[in-house]
Order: sequence, then C-alpha cells, then structure tokens
Amino acid sequence: MKALQIGDMTVPVPIVQGGMGVGVSLSGLASAVANQGGIGVISSVGIGMSYESKGKYSRKSNLSGFIGEIRKAKKLAPNRILGANIMLAITDFDDMFKAALDEKLDIVFVGAGLLIKKPSTVTMEEFVNSKTKIVPKISSARAADLTFRVWAKSFGRIPDAVVVEGSKAGGHLGFKKQELLGETKSLIEIVKETKEVLKKYEDEFSQKIPIIAGGGIYTGEDMYKTIQAGADAVKVGTRFVTTYECDADMKFKMQYINASEPEDVVIIDSPVGLPGRAINNDFLKKISAGEKRPVSCSWQCLKGCDYREIPYCIAEALFNAAQGNLEKGFAFAGSNGYRATKIESVEEVMDDLIRGYYKASISNVKENFTKSLVF
Ligand SMILES: Cc1cc2nc3c(=O)[nH]c(=O)nc-3n(C[C@H](O)[C@H](O)[C@H](O)COP(=O)(O)O)c2cc1C
Repeated sequence: MKALQIGDMTVPVPIVQGGMGVGVSLSGLASAVANQGGIGVISSVGIGMSYESKGKYSRKSNLSGFIGEIRKAKKLAPNRILGANIMLAITDFDDMFKAALDEKLDIVFVGAGLLIKKPSTVTMEEFVNSKTKIVPKISSARAADLTFRVWAKSFGRIPDAVVVEGSKAGGHLGFKKQELLGETKSLIEIVKETKEVLKKYEDEFSQKIPIIAGGGIYTGEDMYKTIQAGADAVKVGTRFVTTYECDADMKFKMQYINASEPEDVVIIDSPVGLPGRAINNDFLKKISAGEKRPVSCSWQCLKGCDYREIPYCIAEALFNAAQGNLEKGFAFAGSNGYRATKIESVEEVMDDLIRGYYKASISNVKENFTKSLVF
C-alpha cells in the first residue's frame, strides 16, 4: 500500500474520510481518522447549528463554528492531516473557503457544484499559491475535464488532486434520479476514464494528479480493487458513521445498525434539487406521502432554496437527525448503509480496511500465480 502523495504532502494511509453534514463529521471523527494516518475531514455545512440554541442558526455562527471545529481538531490531532468539505451549493461558500485557508487547513474538498470560479473572499494570488490543497469533487470524467480546463486557462494552475465520487455514495449525489434507479457507471469505470482524461493536464503541468475515489468503499477488498484500477486513495464515508468517534448522536448511528437490507437505503428527492441517499424512516415516508413540515428559515443557507416552496428544511432535518431527533429528520447513508452490525472504533475500521487490502492483494498474487501454471 503506497502513501498518498499530494504535491509536498504525504498521507501515510491512503484513506480519506468523507466530510459528512450536518454535524456528522466534526472535529471528533476528523481527528480520530487523522490520528490513524488518514485525512480527517470536517463537514462545514450547517455547522453553526451545533453552536447556537435551536432555531438561531446564522451565517455568523456558521463561520465561528467552523473555525472552532478546525481549531479543536488541530488540538486533538496535532501535526496530522486535516481537511474540510465545503459545498459550493451553500450561500457562505466563499467565507468558509477563506476561513479554511486562513486557518491553514491542509486540504479542502469542494463538491455540490463545479469549482470553476475563484471565491470572492480570496485574492488571485492567495488562490493560485494556496498552501491549503484544493480538491474538487466530481462524478464523471467529463466534469473533471471541464474543471481542469477552466483552471488551466483561468488560473494557470490545476487542482492539487481530484475526488471521483460514484453513484453508491451517501448524501447528495452528482447523478440524476433516473440514473440512480437504473444502471450507472461503476466507480472503477469512472476512475479509469478520469485518469485517461487527466493525463494531458499531468503532462502540461508536469504534475501528478492524485485520484481519490469514493462511493461504496466498505471493505479492504473494495479499497484494493479501486486502487488497482488507478486510484491513489479511497474516500470512505458510510463505514465511519458507525464508529464511537463519529460526531452524530448514537440514535443516528443506530439507524444504520437497525437497517439490515439494501432496500432500507433509499433514493430521495432533496429540497436542494438533487437526489440523495438515506436510510428510510417514518419522517421520509411521511414526506414522500406528501406531508409538509413548516419551515421557519433563519437565513438562506442554500443557494437557490426558497423556503416557501420546499416541503421541509433539509439543513434542519439533517441536523435534527444528527442530534438524535429522528422524528424530525433522517440519516443520509451510502448504499452500504445497511451493512454495519456493531459500533467500532475508528482504529478498528482503519485496521480492518488495511488488513482487507493486504488480504485481497495476496489473493490476487496467488490467483495470478495459479493462472501462470496453466498451459
Ligand atoms: C451521513 C452522510 C452525510 C454526508 N454529507 C455530505 C456533505 O455534507 N457534503 C458532501 O459533499 N458529501 C457528503 N457526504 C458524502 C461523503 O462525504 C462521501 O463522499 C461518501 O459518503 C462516500 O461514499 P460512502 O458513504 O459509500 O463511503 C455524506 C455522506 C454521508 C454518509
């Protein structure tokens, strides 16, 4: 297993923990993963909700909450590799991005939209020469090509790495609902296509572009196969939810433990306008039957959201769930969200992934050896 190298940054264990909002991956989970040698990721979305009394969510508390979590994580995991996940779809993206750079986070992951414009809060000089690694999340080789082309032309540089996320991931997804209900390209296919498309940028900039692949990585064998297909690291979300260190309430984690069939994980229409994947529960059943929950909006946290039109507030529903109030919310989960049977420590999960990786690698060597004996 090779360390993940992103420019001058070496990540000993090529496992990136997926940023999970609202309040699922904060400083607790992020620092635990970082302390095990991976990249721990704080999810910035809705973070202010954990810091203010109910219903008092504001842009100001979001920013101070984010900075607070970064500082906490740095104390818990000194000199380890820490990042944040910031969604372009949130209204205060530019503020959060600047805070990540100012706080000298090692890396930022940017998803829920294509990062093709410089955030207004940083100068071109700060953006182009940022020490914080900037990594867009995409779901197709085409989106990767577009992002890298725009960066090369507009900024004279390319992103430090790329996250390729397949259709099995949890949370909001970069695929159409119809695609998700039918056949989508496998993560491995998307990794291969993206690798091919990015070759020209690697040549042009004489820079290796690491690919971090996620969506449905649950075992060491999944990790091995994905890295064999050309990824440099994997991104894991769902598997880390059922850990003691995950920042969500135990009742949230129990939604995962109590789910036992693939059908317990469903595709939903999120008020954000994107499909999402979640553990089915009474809240979601009532919403899909047409029930509406009154929305009292403290501030417009999502770009393009009109609170008068939506059946419920997604930020509030996700926050409620992470706080253990599942009557008023639901848990996002990847397609493997039904597989966990117990709560583990982050160390146990990381050890299991690493052990499974080597086991799969040994099986592969044996298989090739056996094949070589057949004439
Ligand atoms: C509970 C949960 C919440 C998530 N929240 C976010 C989020 O706020 N922003 C985001 O870009 N991705 C989010 N994701 C996606 C993860 O960061 C990760 O990329 C993905 O889950 C990887 O797939 P896996 O869960 O199959 O391992 C979330 C995933 C889960 C399971």
